Amino acid sequence: MNSRARTPWQDSEVAIVGPGRVGQAMGRLLKEAGIRVRFVAARRLAAARRGVRFIGGGEPLALLNPRLLEARTILLTTTDSALPEVAKALAGTGVSPDAWRGKVVLHTCGSLSSAVLQPLKRRGAAIGALHPFQTVPNPTAGVRNLRACYWNIEGDPAAQRLSRRWVKALGGVAFHIRRTQKTLYHLAAFLVCPTLITLMEKSARLLRRAGVPEGVARPMLQRFVTETASNFATLGAKRAMTGPVVRGDWATLERHLNALRKVSPDVVPLYRELLRAMLRLVREQKAEGKRLKGER
Ligand SMILES: NC(=O)c1ccc[n+]([C@@H]2O[C@H](COP(=O)([O-])OP(=O)(O)OC[C@H]3O[C@@H](n4cnc5c(N)ncnc54)[C@H](OP(=O)(O)O)[C@@H]3O)[C@@H](O)[C@H]2O)c1
Repeated sequence: MNSRARTPWQDSEVAIVGPGRVGQAMGRLLKEAGIRVRFVAARRLAAARRGVRFIGGGEPLALLNPRLLEARTILLTTTDSALPEVAKALAGTGVSPDAWRGKVVLHTCGSLSSAVLQPLKRRGAAIGALHPFQTVPNPTAGVRNLRACYWNIEGDPAAQRLSRRWVKALGGVAFHIRRTQKTLYHLAAFLVCPTLITLMEKSARLLRRAGVPEGVARPMLQRFVTETASNFATLGAKRAMTGPVVRGDWATLERHLNALRKVSPDVVPLYRELLRAMLRLVREQKAEGKRLKGER
């Protein structure tokens, strides 16, 4: 980056705590955006070193090394379940009572709010959460797909300000929701990501059973699902929905169920539930269409 183009915040610095998939990807991206990655801390020094190598900067530290307090911003990217204990343990570091004053501590968990960082707030830190609505299966994928993505941010004003600047630097879109709504928000993400992988895997198995070559099934599913997602985004659910439920083709649905009972009986309950949900949606949409027609 051209040094004359640097703005003061870009000269700020961050310590990454818990360099897994998201931690390593964010470390690399923040570094590329001009933010100094000062430390990478993990419970095993070897993991901290691996993080430093991937990020391309930072000093590896043990998890609770008090030197972490030399960084102005701490980004916690540990697993969700580790956040309460890590926040509590970190709050125990630093000798002076206001050792954490002036620091910003953020985490990247979607289902827990920034309140999980309260022990650090009690010691003077501004706390916040910044969650990418994105799937990061490995650090390299994160470097690619955390650019220009959507980020939910919440927390203390200083934490939100910093989060917005980071999101802007990554070319993303930031939005705010209330702390109390994070479980719902995360549930919405859950409903369309790991579940979609599960459905795609089940679909791929059926394709294999039907004799579709392995090399065709995966790219074919990719094309199909990408198109479906794009239609949902551009047309909305009502106009994007196709298939036998929309056409009222009950004979085909019956044939599906008969075939499923033979080849994959474990999937029958899932098929039935999805069918019920689809029918409710189609009925709701038809009722809405009639109501709107009546109003005209
Ligand atoms: N992956 C995604 O798609 C995604 C997307 C959005 C948000 N997020 C959020 O980002 C955060 C990190 O997720 P991730 O997928 O990057 O997880 P991850 O790859 O499993 O990495 C988690 C990191 O936490 C460390 N850790 C686990 N337990 C710990 C403990 N008790 N004390 C200290 N460190 C501990 C692990 O260290 P070790 O190496 O020592 O085990 C590892 O470095 C989570 O809050 C997650 O919800 C993830």
